[in-house]
Amino acid sequence: MSTQSTGIRDTGYVTRVRAHIRERVVGREHELDLVLAAVAAGRDILLEGPPGTSKSTLLRAIAEEWGIPFVLVEGNADLTPSKLIGGHDPARVLREGYRDENFVDGPLVRAMREGGFLYIEEFNRAPDDTINTLLTAMAEREVTVPRVGTVTALPTFRVIATMNPYDNVGTTRLSSSVHDRFNRLVVDYQDAASEREIVALRTGFSPDADVDAGSSISADLAAVLVTDAVALTRATRDHENTRQGSSVRGAIDLALVAAQLLALRGITSPGDGRVTAEDTPRRRYAESMRDAALVALSGRIHVDEAAATTPERVIHQIWEDHFILLPAAAEPG
Ligand SMILES: Nc1ncnc2c1ncn2[C@@H]1O[C@H](COP(=O)(O)OP(=O)(O)OP(=O)(O)O)[C@@H](O)[C@H]1O
Ligand SMILES: [Mg+2]
Repeated sequence: MSTQSTGIRDTGYVTRVRAHIRERVVGREHELDLVLAAVAAGRDILLEGPPGTSKSTLLRAIAEEWGIPFVLVEGNADLTPSKLIGGHDPARVLREGYRDENFVDGPLVRAMREGGFLYIEEFNRAPDDTINTLLTAMAEREVTVPRVGTVTALPTFRVIATMNPYDNVGTTRLSSSVHDRFNRLVVDYQDAASEREIVALRTGFSPDADVDAGSSISADLAAVLVTDAVALTRATRDHENTRQGSSVRGAIDLALVAAQLLALRGITSPGDGRVTAEDTPRRRYAESMRDAALVALSGRIHVDEAAATTPERVIHQIWEDHFILLPAAAEPG
């Protein structure tokens, strides 16, 4: 491939962009540096990681700070090459014939013309001919569109593809010649402290700031709730019967649903000690967490086909471990 203008002004500029992004993204300093280095170098990149692991958040933030469009498209069987490229508006073609003005840009042509990020989610699910169209556009930095002519990409055009390693469609589907054309970064779940920070940020249940004005629970209760929501959610990933657990999105929803449920039930304290058979404040809090977890997490858990269990049973076990068994193990004596 010939050398290519990257559209990046200078290294100082990239450093400033990084500083701004760090303020809006929790953790991920390492991944941010690597993605920034790749796009600043004018390269395309494949991000591989389970759902909810900051892939879109990072790339959206980079595009916004850089001031270029972020064009999102979902890779699935319906994403044909002509959908990716665009086409003439059929009604207008009938009236006016084929003209440049009645061509509606598809995401690829839009990202090329405007010099944006073409962000393709679940890239591996797109049909082969679509992937080939994309690879050609990446290599040539231009596409030829019938009746329109050649569209040349602005220097800031990049292709960012994402893939979920647990996807049924599998990553093995992509040939080695596809992989040979991409840089690649593996992204995994963040640690518990970062996930608590993300949940606090997205729910407004911040441990040090005052709880969101719209919320009806106290700051103390909110802090405990965020910790429990993250712990229960993380446990879904390690459970022996799950193929894929819930991302931090589940923890965010669990915290929000639980807060409402606790308010509805008039529960104002998480109680303390171990959950026992008696009707204590601790039991009432824990039961609300279990009910909210069933709502927020059960649809997000993929149980191993070989294991004769259900998402509900998995959540119940995780809940027991967290509220009944583990606190006992942690108690002295
Ligand atoms: N590092 C982070 N800092 C702040 N918020 C985050 C971070 N990571 C994830 N989030 C939040 O979690 C949610 C999911 O993150 P995101 O959309 O970036 O995941 P993704 O990797 O693109 O997932 P998918 O593969 O499903 O598209 C978003 O609501 C986002 O706000
Ligand atoms: Mg995403």
